This record gives sequence, structure tokens and C-alpha cells, in this order.
Amino acid sequence: MKFFDYKGKNLHADRVDIAFLARKFKTPLYVYSRARLIHQYRKLARFFELSPTLICYALKANSNALLCRTLQKEGAGAEVVSGGEILLALRAGFESSKILFSGVGKTREEIRLGIGRGILSFNVESFEELKTIAEEASKMRRTAPVSVRINFPIEAKTHPHTVTSGRLSKFGVGENEAFKMYQWAKKQRSLEIVGLHSHGGSQLFSSKPYEQAAKRAGNFLRRLKTQNISLSFVDMGGGFGVGGEEEKDLKLSRIARAYAREFKDFPSMKLIIEPGRFLVAESGALLTRIVYVKGERKRKFLIVDAGMNDLLRPALYGAHHPVIPVVKKKGQSGIFDVAGPICESADIFVRGERFVSPQVGDLLAILNAGAYGFSMSSQYNSRPRAAEVLVDGKISRLIRRRESFEDLVRTEPA
Ligand SMILES: Cc1ncc(COP(=O)(O)O)c(C=O)c1O
Repeated sequence: MKFFDYKGKNLHADRVDIAFLARKFKTPLYVYSRARLIHQYRKLARFFELSPTLICYALKANSNALLCRTLQKEGAGAEVVSGGEILLALRAGFESSKILFSGVGKTREEIRLGIGRGILSFNVESFEELKTIAEEASKMRRTAPVSVRINFPIEAKTHPHTVTSGRLSKFGVGENEAFKMYQWAKKQRSLEIVGLHSHGGSQLFSSKPYEQAAKRAGNFLRRLKTQNISLSFVDMGGGFGVGGEEEKDLKLSRIARAYAREFKDFPSMKLIIEPGRFLVAESGALLTRIVYVKGERKRKFLIVDAGMNDLLRPALYGAHHPVIPVVKKKGQSGIFDVAGPICESADIFVRGERFVSPQVGDLLAILNAGAYGFSMSSQYNSRPRAAEVLVDGKISRLIRRRESFEDLVRTEPA
């Protein structure tokens, strides 16, 4: 099912003409489809029906309250990585008992916040952190729920910046260290061992690393059982790739079957997955307008009003986002690079794409921009951040206003 598609020559989001949105809310503008978001959530939930599963949405992908609320209403929990995200998740309506807190650098203040709000679990990433959580919980006369994030020795094939497992990764701990942490945690009155956590990387297109991780997690759970440590959930992370042809290769059914198979000895244990991108990437597009057409025969550019400060992924990861015209045209076509206005050579959205007679003022849509788009955006080059709009059928709603010059200086003394 397509949610960003042409009706005649005009690109629509659900039933709303995108050109209308650009006129009404200006550009650059993030546009999301609520129907697409729900479609993705339900699709994923169906794959994982084999086991009792809690889907914890990784807020870092896009923490807009309206998108979060839509997922929360579908039954999702939240995976967060900062105190700010704990508060955003609670504000969006996620129950604290469905919030998981990951991240290698949790501060004491953030730990106290998590304990105080009664979150489901801390996904603990080092022995030092485990000790800090035990100390803070003890001071608060509370019991902190913990899971250890295990960095299984599995190499996932993706961009080096989005691998989170393997020898060189800063995330989680090795299996032996994890085992010692569980043994230590078992003796602490201020800690309750609740789960096991692992997350191998982002934008993975092969089911293999998931199957390998499930096997190792199953073995690890059996090792814990010898110490009379049993868990209420195993959290296998997110990272499900979306977008492009490769998606066809990601066999979610194989992953779901591998989890059911490897964890069948632990029937009372729940499965948790933490998708971010899978749910929101294709639910969003970034609209931008051509400001200048420049260049010579060999190198021609469409300079647009969105930049790498709005969508960093192409510059950061070399990520490919299709760029398409909002209104289809007839005429002569040419090959262009699409570049933003930022003073960085990396501020290029695509290179060598064919466009039909593009002109100043034309609108382009940068697709699959719903995940790690707005949430990674910045004010670099003193550019106010873009607005966000949610489309629901034929209704569109501003879900974040465009920033102004005042927003650029708000935190500085006058
Ligand atoms: C611990 C953890 N869980 C889940 C995710 C979500 O990954 P994705 O958006 O690729 O599904 C991430 C992404 O960085 C992560 O670090």
C-alpha cells in the first residue's frame, strides 16, 4: 500500500495534495502519514504474533508527541536513551511500565528519574553503570529493574556508523562480563533482574544477525538458569531495515520464527523488540522548494531550501533518499545533483538524478525521511528548524510549528 503517491500529476500524502501543504505551511516541511504509521505497526505486530511480544518504539527515530501517541494507542511501549526521552515518552502517554531505558552514558540524575518514574527496565551497558543504579536505588529505598545489554560477537552488515555490535562497539558488554554482572546483581537488594537486552545495529537487511543473536541469547538464558536466574523478558532490539529494494531481503517471518524457536524453553518470558526506523521512516517525507538551478553541462545542481541541518542522514551515512517532483512535468529532462544551502560540501541529498525541466519554485519531496530526520535536525548555519505536519486521511494538522529567529536566540542572554 502506498501512502505517498501521485493522483494525476500531483503527489499526495494519503488524500491530501502535497503542493497544498507546501503552500499552507511553507517549506522545508516534514509531512507524515498517520495511516502509514499504523500500517507499519500492525504489519510488524502480525509478524511477531508467534510469541507474546511488546513492541517498544525507539523514540530517537522521531519523538514528535503526536506520532508517539498514535503508536502508544496501538499498544506500543517506548525505548528511550535519555532523561529527556523518558519525559517525552511519559508526556506522549506511554505507561512507565512499558518504558525501557538504554544508553551507555546514563547520568545519576537520569537514573534517579527512571527509578522514580517506575520504568520497566534499565538496559545496563557496563558494570560501572550497574553499580551506580544499585547505589541510587538503595539511596532512594527502591528496587531498580535491570537487564544487561549484551554485545554478542556478531558482525551485522550495515554502515559502520550504525553497527552497534562486534568488537569495536561501545555498546553493551561481552557475554562473560554480562554473566558476572547478572551474578552480582542477583546479590543486590536494590536491584531486580528482569531481562536481557541486545541490539545489533540499524538498517539491517539480512535476518542472519537476528537469528545468530537469538541463538546466542537462548544459550545465555540457559547459562543464567544454572544460576537460578530467570527473566521476565528478552529484548532483542530493533534495526529492521526499510526502504529500497533490499527490504525484500529482510525476512521478518524468519526472525520471528527464530525467536520463537530459540526461546521456547522459557514460555513465561515475554519477547520485546525495539523498532524505530521500520515504523516511521516511510511514514514521512521532507518537502523542499528549488531556490536556484545552477551549473554547467557536466555538473548541474538543484539548490533547495532544505539542508543537512533538516535531514542529516545523506551527509552522515551516505543514506539514499529518493527525491521526486511534487508535480510531474512534461518536457526535457536532465541530470542534476540536489544540494542544500548549508556551507558544507556534504550538504547533498542525491547525486546524478534525472529531473524533467526543473525550475526555481518547483517542489521536491525527499522520501523515507520520517526516521532520524527531524530528530537529528539542528539549527546549524543559524537555520530555524522545519515544521511538521501529520496527515490523517484528508485532514492535515500542524504537529510542530516552524522555528523562528526568536527560537535561535531564546537560550542566550539578551
Ligand atoms: C538500543 C536501540 N534500540 C533500538 C534502536 C532502533 O533502531 P532502528 O531505528 O534501526 O530500528 C536503536 C537505534 O539506534 C538502538 O540503539
